[in-house]
Amino acid sequence: MEYVIECENLVKVFKSKPPVRALDGVSLKVPSRCIFGFFGPNGAGKSTLISILIGLTLPTSGSAKVLSYDTLHESLEIRKRVGILPEGFSFYDNLTALQNLKYLGMLDGIPPDEVEKIAIEILNKVGLSDRANTKVSTFSRGMKQKLGIAQALLKNPELLIFDEPTVGVDPEGVIQFREFVQSLVKDGKTVFLSTHLLRDLGVVCSHTAIIRKGKIVAQGSMEELTQKMKGVKGYGYEIHIKTGDVNRLAEEIKKLPQIVEVKMEGANKLKVFSGEELGNEIFMLLSKGGYQVEAMVSLKPEWEDLYKFYSEAI
Ligand SMILES: Nc1ncnc2c1ncn2[C@@H]1O[C@H](COP(=O)(O)OP(=O)(O)O)[C@@H](O)[C@H]1O
Ligand SMILES: [Mg+2]
Repeated sequence: MEYVIECENLVKVFKSKPPVRALDGVSLKVPSRCIFGFFGPNGAGKSTLISILIGLTLPTSGSAKVLSYDTLHESLEIRKRVGILPEGFSFYDNLTALQNLKYLGMLDGIPPDEVEKIAIEILNKVGLSDRANTKVSTFSRGMKQKLGIAQALLKNPELLIFDEPTVGVDPEGVIQFREFVQSLVKDGKTVFLSTHLLRDLGVVCSHTAIIRKGKIVAQGSMEELTQKMKGVKGYGYEIHIKTGDVNRLAEEIKKLPQIVEVKMEGANKLKVFSGEELGNEIFMLLSKGGYQVEAMVSLKPEWEDLYKFYSEAI
């Protein structure tokens, strides 16, 4: 299977007063075995799309397939095979972590004589085994998130869909989450991460779609997206000089072709953005001008730049 999710022109209009066009012609393809970042601000339509994917919300028009099953007619098959962490997932606070998982596992159809063993294995995998017999009411936000991931893994799904998985999680928890997601992909799974927190999760995604006001403004592999940005701020360099006049250097660099921006960063540092590769030209300027160079590094386009660029493009 090449794609685990395929949406074709999905439209969702909520018939509230006034009506809300939450999805406005969304077409999306998620390749299998990747970490896919579904990014967009609050209210962009991310949770609505997820709800359609698992058959809980009917689209106004358009169609979608998950693991080759149609969301309109085969949603039970989808729910058997997809692990979901819904936004704001909550547990039975008065039950322990293990009791919660056993209960949810049985709802997932795991036979009663197997469910405990599976639940214990998964608690171990997400790093909660020492809390297996503790009531969830005492759990921190980060621990609840781990338990949320654990419940999504119960049925050993090929596809995992996480909706805002890092909201309220501390930086250390975010790093652990990234590593965990990478290990899932090594096990052959596909992970769909829906979030407005680009900073938390952008770095681990190989593929992405950016949604804004119900419309996809960009999608593809990270590489494809940065390629398209060339000519805008495709190349960046940070130049740190030891000796020489940094202002004069900035003026000289500004004369090179395709320069988009030259920024001073303190007394002896410059950031240069250009539409074409200028590493050699800058190097020549530095040696001709007799500058002593402390360091010169290429800057990769930042995820945030990418997001800003595509969000402002429409
Ligand atoms: N049941 C509903 N009735 C009316 N409007 C809704 C409903 N669910 C979501 N919306 C609206 O649809 C838009 C998209 O919401 P949502 O999919 O939750 O966005 P996101 O998950 O990206 O924050 C928002 O304007 C939201 O208010
Ligand atoms: Mg949401």
